[in-house]
Amino acid sequence: MDFDVIVIGSGPAGYVAAIKASQLGMRVACVEKDPTLGGTCLNVGCIPSKALLKSSHLYHEMSVQAELHGIEVGSLSYSLEKMMQRKNSVINKFTKGIDYLFKKNKITTLSGRATFVDPHTIMVGEKKVSAKNFIIATGSVPASLPFLPIDEEHIVTSTGALRLKSVPKRLVVIGAGVIGLELGSVYGRLGSEVTVVEYFDRILPEFDETVSKVAEKVFKRQGFTFRLGARVTKAEKGKVYLDQEVIEADTILVAIGRKPYSEGLGLEKIGVTLDARGYISIDSAFRTTHPHIYAIGDVACPPMLAHKGSKEAEVVAELIAGHINTVNYLAVPNVVYTDPEIASVGLTEQKAKELAIPYKTSQFPFAANSRQGTVSHDPDGFVKVLMNTDTQKIIGMHIIGPSASDLIMEGVIAIENNLPMSAILHANHAHPTFSEAVHEAILGLTKEGFIHI
Ligand code: NAI
Repeated sequence: MDFDVIVIGSGPAGYVAAIKASQLGMRVACVEKDPTLGGTCLNVGCIPSKALLKSSHLYHEMSVQAELHGIEVGSLSYSLEKMMQRKNSVINKFTKGIDYLFKKNKITTLSGRATFVDPHTIMVGEKKVSAKNFIIATGSVPASLPFLPIDEEHIVTSTGALRLKSVPKRLVVIGAGVIGLELGSVYGRLGSEVTVVEYFDRILPEFDETVSKVAEKVFKRQGFTFRLGARVTKAEKGKVYLDQEVIEADTILVAIGRKPYSEGLGLEKIGVTLDARGYISIDSAFRTTHPHIYAIGDVACPPMLAHKGSKEAEVVAELIAGHINTVNYLAVPNVVYTDPEIASVGLTEQKAKELAIPYKTSQFPFAANSRQGTVSHDPDGFVKVLMNTDTQKIIGMHIIGPSASDLIMEGVIAIENNLPMSAILHANHAHPTFSEAVHEAILGLTKEGFIHI
């Protein structure tokens, strides 16, 4: 055998699996079909979108906040081209970083598309390579609607939206999920009129309902128009048709979710099966129908999140090395990098009800947090926590507000480690910090209640 492990795909699931397996003493190769390492996350996903979110946020803050802070900026303008160049240089830095990490960890990079010829052998271009174990981490691609031909220019997925040449006057986004709201924010801040069409009757349908409601209010204030409970029946260049309405659009962004990607791997030839939704069928140890062929990340199971894939990557490498490990999916956080940020971990209140778990909630508004008062007068935003009243354990945390992406880690650590709410309650939170809002939300679960409201 040429290698102990061949990882197929170099996204946040694949590259982390390769590094971890190498650290555990295995001879590792990683196959990548694209010219750069890093997969969707680094090349056309998390990293470029966060780079553009930063640039557009800075411009927007200067336009609307500078004066409030006594800063005179005169006339303000931006260059989308330069913003895109900066974004590209960020991508470049990160993808090169993985090259470096692979060299450091003595991982062989195989460039090309991997196709199984038998359960222990793949072809990469003309090259035949064999391994004792395989980890499939081929990710996902944007889902599309049958009547909406994507041209990545006028009708785009997130990939095209990250490369637009000009800011559309009217941007219609189909899908009020993470991508729709993040990329809608980028172009909204740069001047687009943004209309978001959502099939469900609320935005961010997977989040806690209280968060969705406040988020809708905040985004409307920022200029978003929403069409909720709306079905897109047809679309063409320039027009989106709903049941009762036609919306004009210069650019249409289709952000209705992603689907697992395993095309061209030759899985049918070796008997590796897919489930009804197109995910590779795996057991609880990430094993496919062949116990030495594993699948992780977006191609294996939801939620389709980079850090979930990276966590599975560490666990699968340890399983191959003979260690025992699992992923606690309840402790996987979900973050939306809008302004304010939105973050969630564990059960929503709706889910706790559905599961008949005895729970108590507490919600503390950022309006009563002193740090927030020094940086913004945004009246909305809160930390909401859910506690199981039988066990006193934290079972959910939902935040809309400043630094939610970092604050959520208190909830992640509590849920991952099955901690009682007293673990956060007794921890001294620095003043003045946003994290005091998490502490206060926990105080709200006690008999005495909040201090600052
Ligand atoms: P999503 O699943 O978050 O949202 C898609 C939305 O589209 C849902 O609200 C859904 O109800 C709606 N929808 C579906 N079909 C529709 C239709 N025909 N008409 C109107 N609405 C429709 O998917 P999204 O935003 O495309 O993101 C894809 C994946 O990438 C997600 O799994 C997401 O978690 C991940 N991602 C994560 C990011 C982060 O962690 N910050 C950033 C970007 C993407």
